[in-house]
Amino acid sequence: MAVIALKCPSIEVAVVDISVSRIAAWNSDQLPIYEPGLEEVVKQCRGKNLFFSTDVEKHVFEADIIFVSVNTPTKTRGLGAGKAADLTYWESAARMIADVSKSNKIVVEKSTVPVKTAEAIEKILVHNSKGIKYQILSNPEFLAEGTAIQDLFNPDRVLIGGRETPEGQKAIKALKDVYAHWVPEDRIITTNLWSAELSKLAANAFLAQRISSVNAMSALCEATGADVSQVSHAIGKDSRIGPKFLNASVGFGGSCFQKDILNLVYICECNGLPEVANYWKQVIKVNDYQKNRFVNRVVSSMFNTVSGKKIAIMGFAFKKDTGDTRETPAIDVCKGLLGDKARLSIYDPQVTEDQIQRDLSMNKFDWDHPIHLQPMSPTAVRQVSVAWDAYEATKDAHGLCILTEWDEFKTLDYQRIFDNMQKPAFVFDGRNLVNVDKLREIGFIVYSIGKPL
Ligand code: UGA
Repeated sequence: MAVIALKCPSIEVAVVDISVSRIAAWNSDQLPIYEPGLEEVVKQCRGKNLFFSTDVEKHVFEADIIFVSVNTPTKTRGLGAGKAADLTYWESAARMIADVSKSNKIVVEKSTVPVKTAEAIEKILVHNSKGIKYQILSNPEFLAEGTAIQDLFNPDRVLIGGRETPEGQKAIKALKDVYAHWVPEDRIITTNLWSAELSKLAANAFLAQRISSVNAMSALCEATGADVSQVSHAIGKDSRIGPKFLNASVGFGGSCFQKDILNLVYICECNGLPEVANYWKQVIKVNDYQKNRFVNRVVSSMFNTVSGKKIAIMGFAFKKDTGDTRETPAIDVCKGLLGDKARLSIYDPQVTEDQIQRDLSMNKFDWDHPIHLQPMSPTAVRQVSVAWDAYEATKDAHGLCILTEWDEFKTLDYQRIFDNMQKPAFVFDGRNLVNVDKLREIGFIVYSIGKPL
């Protein structure tokens, strides 16, 4: 919304939320999320044509176009628990829109939702319409965290789905005109509602599948002496495959991939397509396998036990340039190591101690992938400390695990780190970020994903 405000000075954008503290943060100097470049954009527009408010009803009443971006977490109980999307927030947003609206509205699905959600929303609005006309559009978002502003300034494509009626086409045109302020026309794709909704889930499933594919290869590389970076490079040169998104890692994380694939799996099952459901489920299973494999490698390398040993965890966010920890592989790796009674010292440049402690003590939904362990006992959580920098985290440690690819980890003084660690000093690089030869020269025992030992 901040980028829309920046690129469309003639449009007034009001961002509303029921959370008073969140809106206060958006109106302050300390924005509630870390995203490179966002602060500059907000500061340029805030108070001019970009407003943050808790007066939800007033702004909904006044708006012509309403983007609904409420969260759609995975259901934790009831029908479809562990897989289906929980649409509670969406439904109450739709009911509120119906309650306060006195003029025709275009309602845009921005949150990622199951296919056919628009139909449900349409029903709620139309059956409570009091003569008002609603058009529902699906306009899924494809930005990635950490590069959000760049992705929005220069999107590969903008996707708008709507009804194939004259009114639907008119609504699509209205939204298209907003994006056309800065996005070239040929990058604005219009489709029917269901194609737009499904394309979002499909895009994330394909992206996640690439990572699980390369991660599966990484296990085979380790077993055979091939190097996964060389394999990625070689296959990425095929223009049909392409070089992007082929980095083997400790596993993918983030609020989207797992949630969206589980959702896709559920939709397939509901439509009587178990083979298709199982195909996509496997992407998550390989991701769980990769995280487990990493933990097992740490424990087995360190003489089959990490009990009482200090292990430094470098990076906790699910990727660099974000403070977001949702579904971060670091949670599962840390829980695995704590399960073997390790002592952890965690450092991440953007994640707070509170967040780390919360993530490690939280229970996870219990689906049929066993990696989600029980909540940590208070004793286990006491085995966790949070450090201010990588040097403090690694002091006296037996091993260090790199779990997020922060740039600053590339330029650390690894000689200094080595000198202050217990020997033998182990490095487990879950992001293939360090120079293995250099570290081995210093004296480290180095394990990288998918590389010869
Ligand atoms: C993802 C998609 O990339 C966006 O297009 C989409 O809009 C977004 O989800 C969403 O649905 O909102 P995001 O989760 O922010 O974006 O971040 P990604 O860059 O996709 O990374 C996801 C995970 O995959 C991270 O843990 C990352 O470290 C991992 N990854 C990524 C790899 O392990 N290897 C790679 O080669 C690329």
